[in-house]
Amino acid sequence: MKGLILSGGTGSRLYPLTYSNAKQLIPVANKPILFRVIESIRDAGITEIGIVVGSTADKIKEAVGRGGRWGVQITYIQQDQPLGLAHAVKVSQDFLGDDRFVMFLGDNVIEGGISPLIAQFAESEWNSQIVLTRIEQPEQYGVAELGEDGRIIRLIEKPKNPPSDLALVGIYMFDANVFKAVDGIKPSWRGELEITDAIQWLVDHDYRVHPYIHRGWWIDTGRPGDMLEANDLVLEEIEYAIEGYVDRDSQVGRRVTIEQGAEIINSVVRGPAIIGEGARIINSYIGPFTSIANNVTIEDSEIEHSMVLSNSRINDIGTRIQDSLIGSNVTISRSPIKPKALKLTLADHSQVGIL
Ligand code: DAU
Repeated sequence: MKGLILSGGTGSRLYPLTYSNAKQLIPVANKPILFRVIESIRDAGITEIGIVVGSTADKIKEAVGRGGRWGVQITYIQQDQPLGLAHAVKVSQDFLGDDRFVMFLGDNVIEGGISPLIAQFAESEWNSQIVLTRIEQPEQYGVAELGEDGRIIRLIEKPKNPPSDLALVGIYMFDANVFKAVDGIKPSWRGELEITDAIQWLVDHDYRVHPYIHRGWWIDTGRPGDMLEANDLVLEEIEYAIEGYVDRDSQVGRRVTIEQGAEIINSVVRGPAIIGEGARIINSYIGPFTSIANNVTIEDSEIEHSMVLSNSRINDIGTRIQDSLIGSNVTISRSPIKPKALKLTLADHSQVGIL
């Protein structure tokens, strides 16, 4: 089997973080979501992986490389415009050939691995397997309606009145018949070739599509709130280790990772939390569910349930930061210059909550 990861698209719902980075490269618990996706495909025994890239191709190629570090071989497939998930399959036909494959959306995070799912599909005679999960607001996703016998009756993309609470998770398995389906469908109302329509085409033409119901957590990290939620869930799942330096005046809780070269000086860190390589935490409090990325400095400050991306600096701001997503190379500090006022330089689409 082969793997196909979709990493095109614009990431506009995550502006301003995605002005300077691909959304699939935003780290959750200090590791890009795309790296987590590659690892879960590799752990299922697949070594040939194609990554569909769009306008952020250069960033993705620079971060991922050829795959050697994971023991896999990466092939990049350029999609000139984000014309839909089924379009991404179409442009990958040369890479996929006649092999069965798993397609994984590069911005999805799922609990546990996908190894059992892949093994089940590889041994089956199904033409496709889709992953469904019960959620509260299915209208934001593809939704499946199953019959009493458990078979798929209907799949609809982002329906106003969902026929069920079963959303399509961004993991799909196909054989080469999917190319007939992709050629047999038309663009949807949003101008995209929808994978949901391609799967419906398979169902309508009597191909066997098996619905698997996933019972753990699953997050599509499309919006900032989702990103923090994914960070919470992954922080609870990772293994904890103290590899950096913690001085005698600091207290570090049980479920904390301090990466190599990080320093904790006269501070309190309560887990689950991760402090990245080269980060410095001085006279500060880092509360639960916080990820501090590489080379961040936090001094005389308090922060919890937040993510701070690499090379940022937070210094003596006099109030606790909470529920926040702070990008790379950001500086937040107290200004000594009069008049006493908030002085902001914010990118387009930034959001600031003032006390
Ligand atoms: O997350 C699950 C949902 O993903 C499913 O429930 C929906 O049925 C499915 O259509 C999809 O919906 P989204 O609207 O969330 O898809 P999005 O446009 O966010 O794209 C998902 C990923 O695929 C993202 O990493 C970008 C990439 N992509 C997207 C498009 C439209 C491509 O590589 N090429 C594309 O043309």
